[in-house]
Formats: sequence, structure tokens, C-alpha cells
Amino acid sequence: MTCFSCLFGRNLDSATQRTAELDDELSGILNITLYTHRELRIATKDFSPTNKIGEGGFGSVYKGKLKNGHMAAIKVLSTESRQGVREFLTEIQVISEIEHENLVKLYGCCVEGNHRILVYNYLENNSLAKTLLGGGHCNIHFSWRTRTKICIGVARGLAYLHEEVRPHIIHRDIKASNILLDKDLTPKISDFGLAKLIPPNMTQVSTRVAGTIGYLAPEYAVRGQVTRRADIYSFGVLLIEIVSGRCNTNSRLPVEEQYLLERTWQLYERRELLGLVDTALNGNFDAQQACRFFKIGLLCTQEDQKLRPSMSTVVKMLTGEIDIDDKIITKPGLISDFLDLKVRSTAPKAKAESISTSYNSGSDNLDNTSLTSAGSSQATMTFTSPFTRSM
Ligand SMILES: Nc1ncnc2c1ncn2[C@@H]1O[C@H](COP(=O)(O)OP(=O)(O)OP(=O)(O)O)[C@@H](O)[C@H]1O
Ligand SMILES: [Mg+2]
Repeated sequence: MTCFSCLFGRNLDSATQRTAELDDELSGILNITLYTHRELRIATKDFSPTNKIGEGGFGSVYKGKLKNGHMAAIKVLSTESRQGVREFLTEIQVISEIEHENLVKLYGCCVEGNHRILVYNYLENNSLAKTLLGGGHCNIHFSWRTRTKICIGVARGLAYLHEEVRPHIIHRDIKASNILLDKDLTPKISDFGLAKLIPPNMTQVSTRVAGTIGYLAPEYAVRGQVTRRADIYSFGVLLIEIVSGRCNTNSRLPVEEQYLLERTWQLYERRELLGLVDTALNGNFDAQQACRFFKIGLLCTQEDQKLRPSMSTVVKMLTGEIDIDDKIITKPGLISDFLDLKVRSTAPKAKAESISTSYNSGSDNLDNTSLTSAGSSQATMTFTSPFTRSM
């Protein structure tokens, strides 16, 4: 520990020439794998565009083959970080120790100079956004059984982050593109540590960290309250997307059908929920279970956050361990109401300003973030907030 603090006492960011030596020293102290930039350049063939598998709010992602033969997804964080090596590595250590069947595994990272690169286990079957909701350009058949496995798996992963990991982790960006599928179509939540890792000066990432509008709980969007209940809201939207096979917003549909959550509520009131099940299933699904899943989605997205069930309860509801037929479901916090009332900008992509990534063990209330502008239904959000950290 003495050695640890004396290492970090120096200005490590400017001492790039010492990075290799430092990596060796650090890897002896910290239980994480530190990759050299050279190693990752070799793994990705010099970050070749042909190896690029995606681009998100945090930067580009490359597929690469590591020295040990393992395939990896290598995420290059987009902005030069002024976050020190110490903070970055301490956070990484917490995340790298978290292991769960439904969470993407972080292999390690690279922190040479201004490079901040995360190395994850590579998942063969891409994200739910590109496959199930990708508009039919995929060969995967999402049977009813597969969908139930995915819904329950994601719920378990989130319950683990919310209720078992100490301090609790709030994901803040649960959505279809952050649910990756391995070769057996087991779902893995990705980016669960990124909100904690990104310092406030990394402005480009803030839109993603702050959330994506179709999945955003109203109290988070309006009052900036970041709690586990906001994640539960996003999960509810995702659950309905998986059963219906459609995105939360689709501007090509008739107006009354454009917002999935609003549509689900209409059909629930009319007792016609089954009409929303994905037609790609050709009727091959368990109708009672599908109806239950829609209702759980509605329970998770209720306007009053206190009424939303915890994720461990959601898991029990999904598996049938808890009966939901006696549950009263109240109206969801609808994005269309929110848009009418709150949105000022309609730019396709709101410009990011700053983020806050604090978290507080034992408390549901993470930080206060205030909405300054928001985009259209497909756009991401802009927030301003001081960087407050209270661990
Ligand atoms: N571990 C992984 N294995 C395989 N592919 C991955 C992995 N991580 C990311 N990807 C691919 O890279 C794409 C981009 O991921 P990234 O997380 O950067 O952006 P995103 O999920 O679309 O948006 P956001 O920035 O909000 O998370 C993903 O959609 C996925 O296709
Ligand atoms: Mg992602």
C-alpha cells in the first residue's frame, strides 16, 4: 500500500516514457491486466478499420486477438482523459473483480500516456440492437425460449449490480445496444462500469452516460435523480422491446403506435396485450408468459418510481416465482408526455456538456444532474452537473 501511494504520488500522465516499467510495477500491486499500447496495436492490426466492430458514445471498438489467443473487444475511449492513472485504475479494479454470467468480462486495460483503452471479452453474436431489433438483417432466430432466457439473464445481471455488488452500481444506460450476446445467445450487459470510469471533462461521452431518451425514466430526465429505479425503468422498456421485437420509438408507424410504451399501455387497458407480441414468432410463444412479461415491463416503467419493483423482485416475477396477477399497474411515465412538456431542442444529436458520475454506497440517490436540453425521440440527452463524488 505504501508503495502503491508513492507510485501514484507522481505525475504519471506526463511520465509516458516510464509507462512500461510502471505497468510492471502496477500489475504486481493491482489485480488487473495492464496491456501495452503496442500489444493492442498488434492485436488489432494497428487499429485497422477492418477490425472496427462498432462506435458508441465512448469511442471506437475493435476486434482483436490477444497474445494468449483470446479474442477481445478493445474499446478506445475517445477523448484525452485528464483523469489520473490512479483514479482510472482504482475504478477498473472494482469493475474487473465483478464477475457474473450476465455481465461482460473486463480483461484489463491500457493506460499509456493519454491512451485509455478497455479490453473486454469478445462476444460473438453482437448486440440486441443489431440483431433482434436490427431490421431483419441477421440470421439469428429469436425463439420464445431464447427471448425468455435473454430477459431473465439481463434481469439477473442488473439485480446483481444493484443489490449484490458493494457499493451498488447503477448502469445508467440500459438499452438494446448495451446487451451483447455470446455464442449461445446468453445475454451480457456491457458498459456497466463506464459511467464510473469517465471523468467529467470527457464531454463527448456524456450523452451516452446520461442516457438515451427512449429508455430514460422521467424523474431522471426532468429532475436528474439517478437511482436504481431509473435503471429499472430502462429495463422495463427493454423487456417490452424484446417481446414485441420492435424499438421503443418508430416514427414510421402511425402516430398512436410510435411510442412502444404508450402503445403497450393502450393495449393493456384494452386487454389486448397479445397483439403486441412479435409476429416473427409466428404464434409460437407461451401467451400467458408473454402477457406477464408485458405487465412486468409496465410495472417497471410506472411513473411513480416508488411503485417499480426491485430487480430481484423482477427476476422472481419473470421466472414465475412471484405471481403478478394481483398487482395493480399504474400508468407509465410516458416519453410522449415528457416530450410535449420538456423538450426544447429537436436537434438530432444534442451536444454534450458535462457529466456527473458519482455514486453512493447504500443509498439509492446517486447525484443530481439537471436537464438542459434534449433532442427528438432518437436523440440522446444533454446534462450539466458538477462532478461530485461521495463514496
Ligand atoms: N465485448 C464486445 N464483444 C463484441 N462486440 C462488442 C463488444 N463491445 C462492444 N461491441 C460492439 O461495438 C459496438 C459499439 O459499442 P459501444 O458500447 O461503444 O456503443 P453502443 O453500445 O452502441 O453505445 P453506448 O456508447 O451508448 O454504449 C456494439 O454495438 C457492439 O456491436
Ligand atoms: Mg455500449
